[in-house]
Amino acid sequence: MIDKNTVVEAVTLPMQRYFHTMTRDIADWQPLEDAAERLLQGNDVPDEQLCADFRPLVKMMRLIMRLSGDGAWDWSNPEIRKVFQEVADGAIYTLFADTVVDMVISIMKEVPIGTLVEVGTGPGTVTAALCNDMIRCNLQDVPLIISDRAPTIAHVGQSLRQQFPGLAVTDIIWDIQNPCSSPIMKTLRRPVLVFERFCMPYADYAAIDSVARIADILILIDDLSITGKKYSFDMIYEKIGTKFLVFDTARKHLEQYFSCVHTCDGDTIKAVHSPVTTFTLAVK
Ligand SMILES: C[S@@+](CC[C@H](N)C(=O)[O-])C[C@H]1O[C@@H](n2cnc3c(N)ncnc32)[C@H](O)[C@@H]1O
Repeated sequence: MIDKNTVVEAVTLPMQRYFHTMTRDIADWQPLEDAAERLLQGNDVPDEQLCADFRPLVKMMRLIMRLSGDGAWDWSNPEIRKVFQEVADGAIYTLFADTVVDMVISIMKEVPIGTLVEVGTGPGTVTAALCNDMIRCNLQDVPLIISDRAPTIAHVGQSLRQQFPGLAVTDIIWDIQNPCSSPIMKTLRRPVLVFERFCMPYADYAAIDSVARIADILILIDDLSITGKKYSFDMIYEKIGTKFLVFDTARKHLEQYFSCVHTCDGDTIKAVHSPVTTFTLAVK
């Protein structure tokens, strides 16, 4: 039986660090939304008019506007992978990555996690940072399963195993719209901590159910709307099949499996008047 208070308390310091950086550096999201609106109307937004932190995000939106008309958005496409890597290496995604790693490590220090599972691993930017910290914090005995629906997950797994030979990293293909059929799921040691960043909107609410079935603790890093209002940013991402997810609906799915659903970034939401929550934690 996991002590829910221990898990919630474990993420307090990581979220304080997140609050500090967000309110100091990137508190005003309006210029990004303004840029999205202009792109949506068919106008470009030159990089010089944008702060450096927003440039990779706007580059990605430009790419979506250019390529999504073809009807095929494939995360394995080299151009898409390159631009997403720039986004993942940018200051904003780095803050999100640092925060999710901080949360996972803090929980692992307090709860004897049996298996770690990441869904929608993508290029493995979050994963590599996590692997570094697992070694630094002497948590290398916990097996890590990474997964994605894209077959490129095999290369990411291979690269992580080379970089971190002391860790047990396994890669599987898993489209989280369906329950996982990999035999590896039978080997999971409990409690299982599942985490993901920016994958759920590509999969929809049903994916919450697939993931929740195997998780004892779940960390979701996705923008879930609190207001229910769609912005230009959301409309651009809808062009590549991203679902506009609303927190209340996501919470109803989570509550079918978890007795505790916690919005971790409440203080930041208030401070920056954000219409979305980004960090959700659920515990069985
Ligand atoms: C925006 S990328 C995020 C990658 C990584 N989590 C990160 O934050 O750097 C979205 C990832 O989700 C994966 N994805 C999308 N739909 C999925 C699904 N139904 N099941 C599993 N993975 C999915 C994509 O292949 C892609 O790698």
